[in-house]
Amino acid sequence: MSGTAKPAVLFVCLGNICRSPLAEAAFRREAHKAGLDVEIDSAGTGDWHVGSPPDPRSQAKALEAGIDISAQSARQLALEDFTRFSHILAMDQQNLADIMARAPNDTTAQISMLMDHVPGREGASIADPYYGGEENFTDSWDDAVAAAKALVRELAG
Ligand code: 4NP
Repeated sequence: MSGTAKPAVLFVCLGNICRSPLAEAAFRREAHKAGLDVEIDSAGTGDWHVGSPPDPRSQAKALEAGIDISAQSARQLALEDFTRFSHILAMDQQNLADIMARAPNDTTAQISMLMDHVPGREGASIADPYYGGEENFTDSWDDAVAAAKALVRELAG
């Protein structure tokens, strides 16, 4: 993808029901606020929840921020994502390893950890909140917002 093409950003976690829907929602809001023209989606490396809406705890967390994500539907990372998206962002190290393992030779996407884009948080994961409590979803949302703001600054810059 050339430097002038519209960016396309894909957020990837394991199930596409907890973290990446929050990352997608936070980034959608920040991109809209900044007037950034960008394609946005999320996916999971696993297929267990394909077709499901986000986890009710993620839905509640987004709704607290005024964002309704109930219409999102989980999907699995697909081969064409590696050429359709300019940026593929992993929530944790395992996601990153799984994405890299599936990347075709002709991938054009820049693949990285989402928190690598937040100054001072390089290498950090957005921890999997699935087996956790509400506080873990709060942490996921806060990380997603910090990453969304940093990523918009980077792409708009
Ligand atoms: P996510 O969380 O990767 O943030 O969507 C998870 C969702 C489901 C499972 C694990 C993590 N699971 O084991 O089904």
